[in-house]
Amino acid sequence: MPYLIRVSSQKGGVGKTTVAVNLSIALQCSGYQVLLIDGDTVNPSVGFHLGIEDSNTGVKELLMGKVKLVNARVAHAPSGLHVVPGVLTQEEYIVNNEMMQRFTAIVKNSNYDFVIVDTAPGYAVEHMGKYYNEALLVSTPEMASVANIVRLTAWFDRMHLEHKLVLNKVKGKRYELHDKEIEEMYENRITGKLPEDDIVPLSIEDHIPAYLYSRRCNFSKGIDKLAKTYYAVPGSKVPTMRRRGLLSLLFGGRRRH
Ligand SMILES: Nc1ncnc2c1ncn2[C@@H]1O[C@H](COP(=O)(O)OP(=O)(O)O)[C@@H](O)[C@H]1O
Ligand SMILES: [Mg+2]
Repeated sequence: MPYLIRVSSQKGGVGKTTVAVNLSIALQCSGYQVLLIDGDTVNPSVGFHLGIEDSNTGVKELLMGKVKLVNARVAHAPSGLHVVPGVLTQEEYIVNNEMMQRFTAIVKNSNYDFVIVDTAPGYAVEHMGKYYNEALLVSTPEMASVANIVRLTAWFDRMHLEHKLVLNKVKGKRYELHDKEIEEMYENRITGKLPEDDIVPLSIEDHIPAYLYSRRCNFSKGIDKLAKTYYAVPGSKVPTMRRRGLLSLLFGGRRRH
């Protein structure tokens, strides 16, 4: 059965999509089968990060039971990662329990090792603990962001949803909160730290995830550590994505499964 991760925060702009995309790619590169779902119903951007063209079918149609997973997902050619993109829509829609039950049935019957869901800022559907194995919380090392995370964790604790905390855009400046202060507020250990890295905006601009753009940049090293320490089996096979990525960019394209 796939391990379901929800990437969450109450604040926008902290790096949820960036972490969801790059962690998915890192796990896929370690030999796992990963499905990345754009669950940000307000401002879907997974497709933009991965260079996946707009389509008419995505997560909304999947949740509404209008299409099957096989028709809603797209393969990211350079990595082989499967993606259910969000579709920009004028009509607002709220994800209800019926949709979540449908989603769980679809995902749990699939062969993926990991299903990672990028989400919109804020809370989402109730009783989420039933649907996910864990929430991966993303925060910057600033008071406003960490305080938001603490409020979110109180909510997740009540739902018995396990959570981990990743700090993103860490600059190592004096004005940032120290790890100890954050751990005291969060009442748990920090799981991972990802530095502020110019490669990230550059890679997004080029629609190539930072992990494939430059494996040696500090952000990718942080993602690697997070993936290997907490999710992937150490020492598993890592294909040479740079070459594969380049070849598929030259010869590959968007491919439906
Ligand atoms: N580690 C990082 N270093 C530098 N810039 C980053 C980093 N993580 C995210 N960003 C930038 O922050 C912006 C917001 O990130 P995003 O992943 O879209 O946040 P969210 O999904 O939480 O709204 C992006 O434009 C990205 O370029
Ligand atoms: Mg986002």
